[in-house]
Amino acid sequence: MRKWISFPQKEGEISRQAHADFPDRAIYEREAGRSGFFGPASHFHHQHAPTGWSEWEGELKPRAFDLNQLKGVDATSPWDVPDVLNNPHCKYRIWHCKNKMDDLVRNADGDELLFVHEGEAELFCDYGHMSIRRGDYVLIPRSTMWRLEPKQDDLTLLMIEATNDSYQLPEKGLVGNHAIFDAAMLDVPKIDDAFKAQYSEDVTHVQVKRHNQVSQITYPFNPLDAVGWHGDLTVVRINWRDIRPLMSHRYHLPPSAHTTFVASRFVICTFVPRPIESDPGALKVPFYHNNDDYDEVLFYHEGDFFSRDNIDRGMVTFHPAGFTHGPHPKAFQAGREYKKKFTDEVAVMLDTRDALTFSEDVLSVENPDYVYSWKAK
Ligand SMILES: [Fe+2]
Repeated sequence: MRKWISFPQKEGEISRQAHADFPDRAIYEREAGRSGFFGPASHFHHQHAPTGWSEWEGELKPRAFDLNQLKGVDATSPWDVPDVLNNPHCKYRIWHCKNKMDDLVRNADGDELLFVHEGEAELFCDYGHMSIRRGDYVLIPRSTMWRLEPKQDDLTLLMIEATNDSYQLPEKGLVGNHAIFDAAMLDVPKIDDAFKAQYSEDVTHVQVKRHNQVSQITYPFNPLDAVGWHGDLTVVRINWRDIRPLMSHRYHLPPSAHTTFVASRFVICTFVPRPIESDPGALKVPFYHNNDDYDEVLFYHEGDFFSRDNIDRGMVTFHPAGFTHGPHPKAFQAGREYKKKFTDEVAVMLDTRDALTFSEDVLSVENPDYVYSWKAK
């Protein structure tokens, strides 16, 4: 057993409550925290924005990638889609799946989480058939056989693999099991007429990915031929519209309050529309923070991204551990003036305990000026 050094201290001018009632001459609060909002943390009250750097040299920096422009992701198999970011515990990819998949696929490397950014599709898998649409998370357990039939050619999926791992739900603590979303809201595939209609004696290939290499298994029939199943392992689906976010009118909750799925070495959080804090002393935008044990990746799905300037849907920002991140100046000022009463953004956040590396492909769609986007205009 080991224990954090823990004895809260106070020095100088402070607010006793984090994220509220800052000293007048130091409106920039910065949280330095460990273990992703759950470990020891201190709050500094700064006179200047911690994101107010004037020059930056070196490869560690905030990055923004426009995944809308990413070429080479129009594949008929998810195993041909290049990584955007990865580490030994996670693979993060974007797939423009324009055509019906010819073969079944099976990911033997880990659970796969799909987030439908654009479009609609029919999913056929071991457990049956399910229609999926924009804003759905689809969690596919490791080694499930599946394939997709897009309805149009605009199906765009964010894919996050929990490598050698599984996705679970977060511990919901004080608010109990039914908060945020009730597990009863999870949909599962059905052995319905559409599923029965695809039974066949046609030759079918299964592309199995294991240790990042693909093997092909051929059957002289379609192996998606179950007439029924029972158990507690299956594909599940939840749409962001079914998430009822936690919020407090008097306290800006940390991103961890919006955790949707957890793996051993990373978490997935979902930011969905909610009222903005109304208490006069409460912070109304995300606090500046060094989340010193985690790399952070945000995918912007839709809405007006209230803490960011010049970010559009389909873009990704990457804020590795090692520096403070936080709201852009315009957004920070709008928060001070309580201009917006409601946020309508929908974003998917990946926070990883291990350093992520990005691919060569994604460098071609990087916004090189992003590091200076906090400069006051
Ligand atoms: Fe963060």
